[in-house]
Amino acid sequence: MGDSRTAAWERIKALPQAMLTDLFAGDDSRVERLSGRIGWGEGEDAAGIRFDWSKTHLTDDLLGGFEALAEASDFAGKRAALFAGETINVTEGRAAEHTAQRGFGTEASVEEAQALHARMQMLVEAIRERALGDVEHLIHIGIGGSALGPALAIDALTRDLAYVDCHVVSNIDGVALEQAFDACNPATTLVAVASKTFTTVETMTNAESAMRWLRENGVDDPHGRVVALTANPEGAVEWGVDETRVLPFMESVGGRYSLWSSIGFPVALAAGWDEFAAMLDGAAAVDAHFANTDGRDNLPLRAAFADQYYARVRGCQTRAVFAYDERLALFPSYLQQLEMESNGKRVTSEGEPVDGPTAPITWGGVGTDAQHAVFQLLHQGTHMVPVDFLASIAPGDALDPAHHAILLTNCFAQGAALMAGGNMSADGKDPAREFPGDRPSATILCDDMDAATLGALIAFHEHRTFANAVLMGINPFDQFGVELGKKMAKDIEGGAADFDASTRALLEASGLG
Ligand code: F6P
Repeated sequence: MGDSRTAAWERIKALPQAMLTDLFAGDDSRVERLSGRIGWGEGEDAAGIRFDWSKTHLTDDLLGGFEALAEASDFAGKRAALFAGETINVTEGRAAEHTAQRGFGTEASVEEAQALHARMQMLVEAIRERALGDVEHLIHIGIGGSALGPALAIDALTRDLAYVDCHVVSNIDGVALEQAFDACNPATTLVAVASKTFTTVETMTNAESAMRWLRENGVDDPHGRVVALTANPEGAVEWGVDETRVLPFMESVGGRYSLWSSIGFPVALAAGWDEFAAMLDGAAAVDAHFANTDGRDNLPLRAAFADQYYARVRGCQTRAVFAYDERLALFPSYLQQLEMESNGKRVTSEGEPVDGPTAPITWGGVGTDAQHAVFQLLHQGTHMVPVDFLASIAPGDALDPAHHAILLTNCFAQGAALMAGGNMSADGKDPAREFPGDRPSATILCDDMDAATLGALIAFHEHRTFANAVLMGINPFDQFGVELGKKMAKDIEGGAADFDASTRALLEASGLG
């Protein structure tokens, strides 16, 4: 760690720790100072998101300490390199150009992304005009970043209206694929094979089984029902997809950052191109904020300051995200790959051992369900778990407004209770009814939950993840940690037997030994 980074951390760790309730006492401007808003659109279309970090332990002194750490970590330089398409993924020799998909990047990369989007839009609109005949179902086959983003966006945006009935299949467990087959008419089913590399075993095996299912159910040219979403178009054509139905994306777009590319095809097909474009616009609003705002007012950076504080000063090993909105039910799972595959590392970009814990374990669920499952631990357990609450002011339903009011009230009450604590017994002394309080939370309150808002939420967390990586000096864009398990599986399939006794016994017990 460079001296100035060491000095910055020493300053941060030397600061006094105050109770949350004490931080509010006598400070009428705390909520305003530690809340911020990112908005987009004009007039009636104006919308945005409020980011309230006031119920975290951040103080002006801590923010000053973290601003010094950001400076010592060359945050501004690393951010500029990201947007300039420089080779910041140093271990793989690549840029990271997910923001270029939303118009923020080099002129050449933005133009390339726009050309690829134009090709994608043409195919989407041709399919919707029946160029491939009747299309009632889409089976989207992919895994990791090639599935989690599409699944989240389809679930969030197409509950009321979808051009096609979409099934995202990721697991190699045949139960997942057969469930999709059972719901689809082969004659009117399109298959999207989504794979950046077009080599991932789960995806290619599922794709072959889908071809077999189509063929066995009367489709003479199964490959003619396939759209390939990939950064390896040659591999897709070689596999059998007609070049006109291959939608390429840029090699410099990371898998877990790829929803904005042709990987978003099922969203554009199911929800319509305008919705996909709106998602890009919402993300672009966050890009503009992230690129042009410095220090503590940069909201993804401020969130990263709090993340670093809880991981490295308060020893919190996990962070929890609760979507108080059914449409974001898949958001915690999406964040798990984004954050843990990006920052679950042990060496810096220079190959040196990291100087402290890196990514916390991201977990979470849906409110209010989680209140009946995990909030006992969050309130009275021995762990401090920083919690993010996500909610939308506008309801997603047309029921009596009382439903939504109860949802929002519970969301806000949980954050208040985590902070306040107290004792629920009559005499206030029963230890079993004691709530320690002083448990932090942040609230991300959206005006509405629509395509632009979803895009903005995802982009906020992409930049939060990147900012955390910069503060830790690590590379968030590689993922070598997934390779050893893959190799061992291939070795087993290839007949290798030099495994530990437990693995050998399990293989024998399963008839695979
Ligand atoms: O989990 C490893 C990983 O490479 C992810 O980063 C990626 O999103 C996923 O596998 C799928 O890879 P591909 O899109 O190349 O099939």
